[in-house]
Amino acid sequence: MGQDLAEVLVPAEDIARRLAEMAAEVDRDYAGRDVLLVGVLKGAVMVMADFCRALHSSAEMDWMAVSSYGSGTKSSGVVRILKDLDRDVTGRDVLIVEDIIDSGLTLSWLVANLRSRGAASVEVLTLLRKPDAAKVEVETRYVGFDIPNAFVVGYGLDYAERYRNLPFVGTLAPHVYAG
Ligand code: IMP
Repeated sequence: MGQDLAEVLVPAEDIARRLAEMAAEVDRDYAGRDVLLVGVLKGAVMVMADFCRALHSSAEMDWMAVSSYGSGTKSSGVVRILKDLDRDVTGRDVLIVEDIIDSGLTLSWLVANLRSRGAASVEVLTLLRKPDAAKVEVETRYVGFDIPNAFVVGYGLDYAERYRNLPFVGTLAPHVYAG
C-alpha cells in the first residue's frame, strides 16, 4: 500500500497515546455510571477496539451501521440504518465512538436519533475532526486530533473499502483517485 500514500498524518504511536488520554478522561467523567459505547461500522472498529481497551471502567459496547447517501468522498446527511443497535438505550448514558467527523451530518443525525429513543445522555468521542465540522451543531466532547481538510485513510478509514487496515492515518497519492 506504500506507493498509494502521500503522507502519514497521524502515526500509530500518536493515536495510541491520544486514545489513552481520552480513555482517562472518560473514566473520570463517567465514574460511577455504566457507559454504553456505540460504535459506527465500519470505520470506528479500530478506534473502538483500542479506546475501550484503554478504559479502566467497565463499558458495554454496541454497534450501528448507517449509510449516508452521497457520492464519492462527500456525505449528504440523508442517513439510512443498515444495522440497528441490539439493545434499548432508554435511560442509558451513551457515548458514540467515531472515527472522523467531516461535515458532521451523519453524526448530528445519529445524536438526534439516540436522544429520541430516550437515552439519559448522548456524548460523542471522535479520533479525528475536520474543519467543516464547525459548520454543524454537533457537540463533540472528546476529540483526538483536528486535521486539515484532506481525504484520509487508515486506522479504519477507507477509500473504496481499501486501506482500513493501515495502522496509521495518512493521505492518498493523487494517482489513486485518478485511477
Ligand atoms: P460526515 O457525515 O461528512 O461527517 O462523514 C461521515 C463519514 O464519512 C465518516 O464516518 C467516514 O466514514 C466518512 N468520511 C469522512 N471523511 C473521510 C475521510 O477523510 N476518509 C475516509 N472516510 C471519511
